[in-house]
Amino acid sequence: MPVPIVLDVDPGHDDALAILLARADPRVDLLAITVVAGNQTLEKCVLNTRRVCTVAGIDDVPIAAGADTPLARPLRIADDVHGESGLDGPAFGEPTVALDGRPAVQLIAETLRAHPEPVTLIPTGPLTNIALLLREHPDVRSRIREIVLMGGSTGRGNVTPYAEANIYVDPEAADEVFSSGLDVTMVGLNITHQALVTDDVVQRLRAIGTPLADTCVQMMTFFGSTYGELWGMPAPPLHDPVAVARVIDPSLVRCVDAPVVVETRGEHTAGATVVDLHHLSGRPDTTRVAVELDRERFWDVVVGAVASFPPLP
Ligand code: BDR
Ligand code: CA
Repeated sequence: MPVPIVLDVDPGHDDALAILLARADPRVDLLAITVVAGNQTLEKCVLNTRRVCTVAGIDDVPIAAGADTPLARPLRIADDVHGESGLDGPAFGEPTVALDGRPAVQLIAETLRAHPEPVTLIPTGPLTNIALLLREHPDVRSRIREIVLMGGSTGRGNVTPYAEANIYVDPEAADEVFSSGLDVTMVGLNITHQALVTDDVVQRLRAIGTPLADTCVQMMTFFGSTYGELWGMPAPPLHDPVAVARVIDPSLVRCVDAPVVVETRGEHTAGATVVDLHHLSGRPDTTRVAVELDRERFWDVVVGAVASFPPLP
């Protein structure tokens, strides 16, 4: 039986690939996509979600808009990484896929209550929507199988020396999720930087030859250019699909149990994830941390997912 999932995104080049993977792989059943402000404004992230679903022909998964600002801070976007649109690179047409009228948190709550099995949440943006879900609908906690999120790092950050973007944007929300007592897995920079979109990966995507695959190549080319300019990296890390891959096949992403707390007030470290890999704090292991990616099989799964979408008529 496929694992039922809800994906919460802020597209975002890597979020776009996460949507495709979550929809295409038969080992997961994508029940809903919800959107949060992060890489760009909520309005742009919603538009980008509809664009990606339109080019892929995903028209049977509800998409809902969520929080447009973090819980307690102004929004900080990542236009330096993802561009003015949040998804610069390809020329998208007008999206035809509609938006569900419900607020994101309501869509998630109703989806969880309606599904016979507990559902896995995969947030790949700031954790604002998920924190609001837990605040506003505490009854659905028992309907959540686990939360596998892209965010944080066991080491250095990418916005400040110690803070990763998804956690940095809304540390209060991240703190509520990590301390919720739910089964939480952190898929952070330490592992997503093992998923570099190297030239051979781009060639494999190009060889698929469909318009969707060409769009992916254009997205990865833009994403690669900003990572090159900002970080001097030869290839960009495909962060968000690593969280989806962990749910698709846990053997792709090795994890260890470790307590994680979020620094919300540090003078130099706000938004940092403090990961107690060596169990020095005496805190209980309520969280799990991804540490090692099976790169080869990961790329087979991602490229296979893109290739599985039939060309649109
Ligand atoms: C995370 O931040 C965003 O730029 C990406 O989409 C990813 O979710 C990486 O720090
Ligand atoms: Ca993201």
